[in-house]
Amino acid sequence: MSALRVPLAFAPSTGVRVTQWRVEPDLAHLALTADRRRPLSAVELDRCLSDIERAGYQGVVTAALAPADQRVFVEAGFEVIQQLHLLRHRLDALPTHDATPTRRGRRRDHPGVLAVDAAAFLPFWQLDDATLHEALTATRTSRLRVAETEDGTIVGYAICGRSATRGYVQRLAVHPDHQGEGLAAALLLDGLHWLARWGAHDALVNTQHGNERSLRLYLRTGFEPEPQGLAVLRCDFGEHEPSELSRPAGHRALRSP
Ligand SMILES: CC(C)(COP(=O)(O)OP(=O)(O)OC[C@H]1O[C@@H](n2cnc3c(N)ncnc32)[C@H](O)[C@@H]1OP(=O)(O)O)[C@@H](O)C(=O)NCCC(=O)NCCS
Repeated sequence: MSALRVPLAFAPSTGVRVTQWRVEPDLAHLALTADRRRPLSAVELDRCLSDIERAGYQGVVTAALAPADQRVFVEAGFEVIQQLHLLRHRLDALPTHDATPTRRGRRRDHPGVLAVDAAAFLPFWQLDDATLHEALTATRTSRLRVAETEDGTIVGYAICGRSATRGYVQRLAVHPDHQGEGLAAALLLDGLHWLARWGAHDALVNTQHGNERSLRLYLRTGFEPEPQGLAVLRCDFGEHEPSELSRPAGHRALRSP
């Protein structure tokens, strides 16, 4: 494991979270929390990138960003590497609960949750301890539910979160050996009912282009596509003189992914 550190300047209070990206540990992973109300300014982003570069990272991959949040990144030379559908559920007419039982997930369930995640997602999207923690704490409150077999093996999980009246389906996965049994639908409905119970007016979810199975699941459950989707962006820091750290965003040397 590399000795790269997380830049300290971007504490949770800024609404920006920087972690080491598990897929390519030389890259930092940058996420905006659900509480952050406005896009980063060019100055904030440049300061953030300088800190990340100074910490020794060779580039940055973002979490899925909304169009308004993407602009400043694109202007700084980031490129879109993944596009995602964004869907919204109004939560006013929810299908009734599925009979499939699920239970609350606890700290000790995290290894089982990560094992399901690794089996269900391609490496690019997989969670590790840090990003699982990020998914659980990105919103004011969150709910981790798991589905398990009779012997207690976790085979599916969902993370939903709420900030004020906005709900989020942060994560949903079912082990490939147990897909097609209705587990995802049960976990999803459980989360949507929880959000509605605690006053959320709507819920957002995103899913990458090409993931037709999850798209079908969300549409079937009552989600509707939003006109604009989300995107994951990346920049690679190029060779540069130290003085380049203080150049304005957009003048930074970038390499395409
Ligand atoms: C997307 C995903 C969560 C769906 O999980 P799942 O548990 O298989 O979902 P369900 O069983 O509720 O529904 C899946 C299909 O099985 C069918 N099904 C559900 N219960 C069934 C049953 N008892 N018998 C037969 N078919 C059934 C559903 O109708 C559905 O069919 P469709 O895909 O043709 O629409 C799962 O495929 C997965 O983990 N994928 C990788 C991770 C991912 O993409 N996560 C979501 C995106 S962020």
